[in-house]
Amino acid sequence: MCGITGYISKTNDANTVAINCLKNLEYRGYDSSGIAIFNENKIKLYKSTGKIANLCEKIKDIDTTSKIAIAHTRWATHGKPTETNAHPHRCKNITLVHNGIIENYIELKEFLQKNGYTFNTQTDTEVACAYIAYVYNDLNIKDKLKCINEACKNLKGSYAFGIIFDDEPETLYATRKDSPLIVGYGDNGNFISSDITAIIKYTNKYVILNDYYISKITCDKVENYDENLNLVNLEIKTSDLTYNENTKNGYSHYMLKEIHEEPTVIANLYKRYLDKDIATIDLKKFDKIHIVACGSAMHAGLIGKYLFETYARIETTVEIASEYRYKNPIITDKTLVIIISQSGETADTLAALRLANNVGAYTLAIVNQENSSIAREAKKCLYTYAGPEIAVATTKGYTSQVAVLSIIMINSLKNNNLKDTILKETATIENVLEKTIDMLPEYKNIANKIYEKNDIFFIGRGIDYALCMEGSLKLKEISYIHSEAYAAGELKHGTISLIENGTPVIAIATDETLFEKTVSNVKETKARGAYTIFITTKSLADNTDVDDFSDVKLILNDMSKINITHVVALALQLISFETAKLKNCDIDKPKNLAKSVTVE
Ligand code: G6P
Repeated sequence: MCGITGYISKTNDANTVAINCLKNLEYRGYDSSGIAIFNENKIKLYKSTGKIANLCEKIKDIDTTSKIAIAHTRWATHGKPTETNAHPHRCKNITLVHNGIIENYIELKEFLQKNGYTFNTQTDTEVACAYIAYVYNDLNIKDKLKCINEACKNLKGSYAFGIIFDDEPETLYATRKDSPLIVGYGDNGNFISSDITAIIKYTNKYVILNDYYISKITCDKVENYDENLNLVNLEIKTSDLTYNENTKNGYSHYMLKEIHEEPTVIANLYKRYLDKDIATIDLKKFDKIHIVACGSAMHAGLIGKYLFETYARIETTVEIASEYRYKNPIITDKTLVIIISQSGETADTLAALRLANNVGAYTLAIVNQENSSIAREAKKCLYTYAGPEIAVATTKGYTSQVAVLSIIMINSLKNNNLKDTILKETATIENVLEKTIDMLPEYKNIANKIYEKNDIFFIGRGIDYALCMEGSLKLKEISYIHSEAYAAGELKHGTISLIENGTPVIAIATDETLFEKTVSNVKETKARGAYTIFITTKSLADNTDVDDFSDVKLILNDMSKINITHVVALALQLISFETAKLKNCDIDKPKNLAKSVTVE
């Protein structure tokens, strides 16, 4: 999703620094980029489609030294990813970069056209820029804070802006509503950025701008104003992230590196939270749980549903945040609302959290990104401590969410045999996951069988079905193979018509109570020509005729439901990775995808 960086420097390196920072936002996903600088007494804009490297190539021979720069990666919403539509945008004496969506841009555009403004792009951002120019020039509100404040009152939707006025080219103005934006305090200058990872190479000191607040930033001073334009003191936070130049650590891809981090991340989470008060929720206080999230985080929630319903016996529904926020959900004071988000900034998830907070629900957030909006606004937050996740397709982000949900469930169990077994087993999780990674040749073998296929089906029951949902999403995200996940018993109610000779069906059957049922469903697909890939555990495999109905089998060690869930999730991630690799896909930055989805 769009990323913003801006820098105002004591020296003339703003362009270089802003581009360096922008590169650290590449992980968010984008399709064009641009930068505005003040050089030779005028604001100059450079833009390019595709990767930031293309933008760098474009400006490499130009003298681009500057004290100030605003830079942007654009993930197209309004208008194609062309150079013209890329940010920064400029109108009269205003230049800006924007993250978010201006929902009333058509209305504003018509108004501005009647007032003599013309437009070159299809973007909502150009309209926002023109509207600020209108307030500044036509309404003659020359106090810049007042101008921004007034203009923003008439913008509907979400925005984070970095703004430069031609007549004050050594000051950077920034404001936001419902889109992330921080202000960084550096030794040689000050920053704006969509998140701390972008600027951590230069500073770990930052403030989070509240909605409607405006920052006035020069190279040696930051002034923050509230929505009434009163000067305010915001708490300067210190991030404990560290900058690591060689972030791939020798791995070919961030995704691979992040998968390899899972054993430690998950083991550390269990050590940190298991049987600890901080992660113990008195579930008995609630009569139902709503888990609300998007994408893979929602899939983690599906695992949570099975765990909470099976072990804690609390009715749990998993809700897609973009649906939940508009459906007038039935929330009572006995509803626990669990909000899951790796980034903590997903627009729909954040809106769902605010809705639940507004009706007085107890909200618990499971978040990776420190101090993100969701982490700050939930009544309680449990961090997943997965560390920065750069690959767009989440891996350790998702499994760490599953781990926290598992821990909440385990902590809610009374001391009994079940709890003892689970506790004993989770102590081995690091080793178990490392061994799962070691099964790489088997994943490569499966990848070899499926990478040339157009359609793949994942089937499973219970928690295995939830795992199928994520396995299927991961595969399509990074390999572009169409795939669908089905509850194993449901496939025959229609979709089985798509099974042809050789169509791969990946079946997961790790639950002994559902094993025979899933096997029957696999056989139904096999009878119609499917190429079956069967994933199960050793003791279950030993007691059945696996070889008769499986073209390929993946046999995992026997272990508890909690451990096996992590193991299967990791194995499916590696199968997707190997498949995408065989297809030569851009695994870390899949086309069209954004990591942090800060618009609706
Ligand atoms: C995007 C990402 C997914 C992620 C989802 C929710 O679609 O590509 O990997 O699961 O957003 O993101 P969140 O940050 O809220 O977990």
